[in-house]
Amino acid sequence: MPPTARPTGSTAASDPHRSGSTHDLPPGADRGPAFAERVIDWQRRAGRHGLPWQGTRDPYRIWLSEIMLQQTQVATVLSYYQRFLDRFPDIAALASAPPDEVLALWSGLGYYSRARNLHRAAGVVVAEHGGQFPRSLSAVQALPGIGRSTAAAICAFAWGERHAILDGNVKRLLARHAGIEGWPGQPAVQAALWREAEARLPPAQIETYTQGLMDLGAGPCARRARCECCPVAADCVARREGRTDRIPAPRPRRARARRQAEVWVLLAEGRVLLERRPPRGIWGGLWSLPETCPPAAQGIDAESLPAIAHAFTHFDLDIHPRLIRLHAAPVRAADGASERDWHRLDALAGVGLPAPVRALLESLDT
Ligand code: ADE
Repeated sequence: MPPTARPTGSTAASDPHRSGSTHDLPPGADRGPAFAERVIDWQRRAGRHGLPWQGTRDPYRIWLSEIMLQQTQVATVLSYYQRFLDRFPDIAALASAPPDEVLALWSGLGYYSRARNLHRAAGVVVAEHGGQFPRSLSAVQALPGIGRSTAAAICAFAWGERHAILDGNVKRLLARHAGIEGWPGQPAVQAALWREAEARLPPAQIETYTQGLMDLGAGPCARRARCECCPVAADCVARREGRTDRIPAPRPRRARARRQAEVWVLLAEGRVLLERRPPRGIWGGLWSLPETCPPAAQGIDAESLPAIAHAFTHFDLDIHPRLIRLHAAPVRAADGASERDWHRLDALAGVGLPAPVRALLESLDT
């Protein structure tokens, strides 16, 4: 965040409570202001500046960026963010859009529940808040798809409100700095991390501090730590004990499932038959190829295309496409309203497709 774009208030507080020892103090108490001061100073010198969502106080633009940046890297988000804003420049435009159009603009970003919730939340803002993005942390957090950390980031960046964030990167940073053992998904570990996050909040300059935590978590305190670049390395417990590679502890391993699915590529007259997926679950609400699972259909005169391996968060999917060319499309052309429709192959850019399905259809010799 460039300090010029989001006003950062007065200078950071001095550190009147700092003692020489961390024993017998509540979480973060000894390190509070000093920790934050170093993060703020580092963000100014070495953090990320000039990202498109940093030059604004518009809560809609900030909200959109925070949702896109969940589970997705900045470099990927950049082009999606601008295209989305070109089409939906404000909350009212988003709220009145057909869900399919929102999903089409999200196509390829993954984690589509984010797009569905964003659209639903825009509807709630219009219906329940008169079209104005709500101002209080609790009202922001009550919107679909916005958790405690995202709500805090939005309120910090849009209004300079002093709330703690704790996304995945910040969990790693605080777990290491405070030496908190265990997997951050465990409730007790998570609660300890929230206490650390709250205890370290600076009295002012929350925007720069919040951005600094995000930047440190994505940079020097990434999974492979680069402590030589970190402004809080001097009192980092994990670094002192040589355990940055073991803190935080990884999620306890469960065997990763591998599933098989057979999908049907039915082509006719320059069109392909697509089905809308159920609203919840994998690729919810997107258009995809008709599917049979597990592979079953024998004796049908279809061409088997090379299998596609796709990794989801909790399992791997092997997609086995089977191609059938028909002479004529047996039903009317797509109107977008049915759950199963023939879509023009040369107009798929405007259809919300899962990325591997889009890649498969684009690779066909049609
Ligand atoms: N990840 C989540 N929020 C972010 C932001 N505002 N800037 C960069 N990366 C982020």
